Amino acid sequence: MHLPKIHPSILCADHGNLGHDIRLLTETGVDYMHMDVMDGDFVPNFGLGAEIFNCVRRYSDVPLDVHLMIRNPARKIKFFRELGAEIITIHPEAGTNTAATLAQIRETGAKPGIALNPETSVENVKNLFPLCDYVLAMTVNPGFGGQKFLESTVPKLKMLGELSKKYGFTLCVDGNINAERIRQLHPLGITNFVIGSALFRDDPVEMIRKIREENA
Ligand code: DX5
Ligand code: ZN
Repeated sequence: MHLPKIHPSILCADHGNLGHDIRLLTETGVDYMHMDVMDGDFVPNFGLGAEIFNCVRRYSDVPLDVHLMIRNPARKIKFFRELGAEIITIHPEAGTNTAATLAQIRETGAKPGIALNPETSVENVKNLFPLCDYVLAMTVNPGFGGQKFLESTVPKLKMLGELSKKYGFTLCVDGNINAERIRQLHPLGITNFVIGSALFRDDPVEMIRKIREENA
């Protein structure tokens, strides 16, 4: 089994020491920086604008995985691509033509992804899998870091683990992921993990070292 890929959620970093945190994570060799973008409409919170993207870019060349929790994401694909997005993930419930938006993302040279809310059924989105390089399975309702993991999502994660092999997309989970969850979910075919509050609560470098050791 490959080592789990780690996507620190920058929303949960210490924004008073952002440059320090970003440099530390980069030195530790994380795989992506997970950038949560929220418009206060599709989700109740606001988050991560251009200034934060530019700060991350200043301290790191780790690729950016951009999770758009905004209405009508098609309008903002170019904007986030120009800020350095390598993966751009949209919620199918957020816009009118998800397939066209995924094609638009690919045209910019970024990798297209869809994010599935805990309530979103695989059946309703499976026509989109051939258009995606990446699927982000939410294990909390999107909007805030530090929420409780929803156990009801686990059967869907198992199903997505199988489908990721069939369709060839990268499967990432997002929502209260910690070292113990990774031990549980990695054997289900989940390769990529967003880690927010659990990572920044204590010592990020030690936590990443432990995850790599436990899942080698
Ligand atoms: C929730 C975001 C997550 C969040 C992760 O809307 O998509 O990326 O910041 O934070 P934790 O790991 O604390 O749930
Ligand atoms: Zn996210």
